[in-house]
Amino acid sequence: MKSVIIRPFENDDLPGAAAALIDVHSTDGYPVEGVDQPEAWLRSADVIAAWVGEVDGSIVGHVAIMRPHGEDAVSLWMQQSGDQEDQIAVLARLFVVKAARKHAVGERLTQAAMSYGSEQGIRLVLDVMTKDAAAMRLYERLGWREIGRAPHHYGNGQSIDAVCYVAP
Ligand SMILES: CC(C)(COP(=O)(O)OP(=O)(O)OC[C@H]1O[C@@H](n2cnc3c(N)ncnc32)[C@H](O)[C@@H]1OP(=O)(O)O)[C@@H](O)C(=O)NCCC(=O)NCCS
Repeated sequence: MKSVIIRPFENDDLPGAAAALIDVHSTDGYPVEGVDQPEAWLRSADVIAAWVGEVDGSIVGHVAIMRPHGEDAVSLWMQQSGDQEDQIAVLARLFVVKAARKHAVGERLTQAAMSYGSEQGIRLVLDVMTKDAAAMRLYERLGWREIGRAPHHYGNGQSIDAVCYVAP
């Protein structure tokens, strides 16, 4: 694959990131909520920082750090660590289009977010659906540690198994 640039998200990236998200939803069913409004899902008011992976001018991947919004991973970590909510943020919205996978784009995006968390003194947590096995392997390879399990609720009373992790 041609060389991949990992860089902070810019506003002009939104259409490309939304197209990449629609592609990932069609191949992986991520996110389980669906992608009716991909741009709004990517750029909610909770986003603190985001990064993209770019190949030849096309967005192939994305990750964000988000303010806590009632996630089980946040409450689990608060209980286990005594950290306050304002010391915690959520790594989310990680995806890489199938055509660009297995070239460490996901790893480099995750590392960009982890570096930011360390620099800012913010503890990162996340939850991942157990069906997203490649993502679980990636987080564990980078030293994330399981802190509990809680079903992820979505749609009309549906739920799916998920695991909560904290960054090293
Ligand atoms: C999870 C996801 C982001 C990983 O993206 P990725 O860019 O393929 O990630 P990486 O390339 O860093 O790692 C993937 C695999 O490629 C391998 N790899 C990385 N560079 C490689 C290289 N140069 N040559 C061969 N293999 C390589 C990694 O070791 C890893 O192997 P594994 O699957 O056996 O663990 C991607 O699969 C995805 O978007 N999935 C759907 C959405 C999703 O689940 N998101 C997570 C939400 S919490």
